[in-house]
Amino acid sequence: MELAKLIKERRSIHRFEDREVDPALVAELLDTAVWAPNYHMTQPWRFIVTYGEGRRRIAEAVRIMKEKRELDPVKKKEVGEKFYNKIMAIPMIMTVIMTESPNLIERQDDFASTSIVIHNFSLLAWEKGIGLTWETYPWIHEPEFREAMGIAPGERVLGNLHIGYPAAIPNPQPRVPAAERITFVDKA
Ligand SMILES: Cc1cc2nc3c(=O)[nH]c(=O)nc-3n(C[C@H](O)[C@H](O)[C@H](O)COP(=O)(O)O)c2cc1C
Repeated sequence: MELAKLIKERRSIHRFEDREVDPALVAELLDTAVWAPNYHMTQPWRFIVTYGEGRRRIAEAVRIMKEKRELDPVKKKEVGEKFYNKIMAIPMIMTVIMTESPNLIERQDDFASTSIVIHNFSLLAWEKGIGLTWETYPWIHEPEFREAMGIAPGERVLGNLHIGYPAAIPNPQPRVPAAERITFVDKA
């Protein structure tokens, strides 16, 4: 697909077909996605790709978190079950993790580079008919999730990518034309 078309037509996908995504294809796409610009070539990222029965690991952690935080004892089980089922309905979840440099500037640069890897992957996946949403719900930072996924101290979770074949493609949300935000400077 032409790059401009790919960039404009990619959408964040929230509803997926009940169809597995091939982990080997995901690995192949990631191998291209990591060709992102990266100052000092720290390549601070790693990825946990969860699918099939593996999803229970995230679903159970979410169930525990949601039950713990629901104060109404009558609602606890119901709320936990709802979130468990929500996770199990997602064909594949990729947790994107970045090693945090103690140096603030490097950490910011690394965050930018890892974000580029995510978007590279998103575009490559879209080209193959696979959609995703980059999710940043607060519980990716909670100890229950970190422990379930084996995330070490000094590692930051950038998000969970919910991945699958789209069951519905949302309408695009209009962008402010870049011309309104550009200042061209050609005089001293
Ligand atoms: C850093 C980042 C975090 C995001 N977090 C969420 C999220 O937690 N939940 C969600 O539904 N969408 C999330 N999104 C997706 C945006 O909502 C989406 O990109 C935006 O609505 C534009 O839609 P489009 O991607 O289809 O063009 C996130 C996107 C980015 C780049």
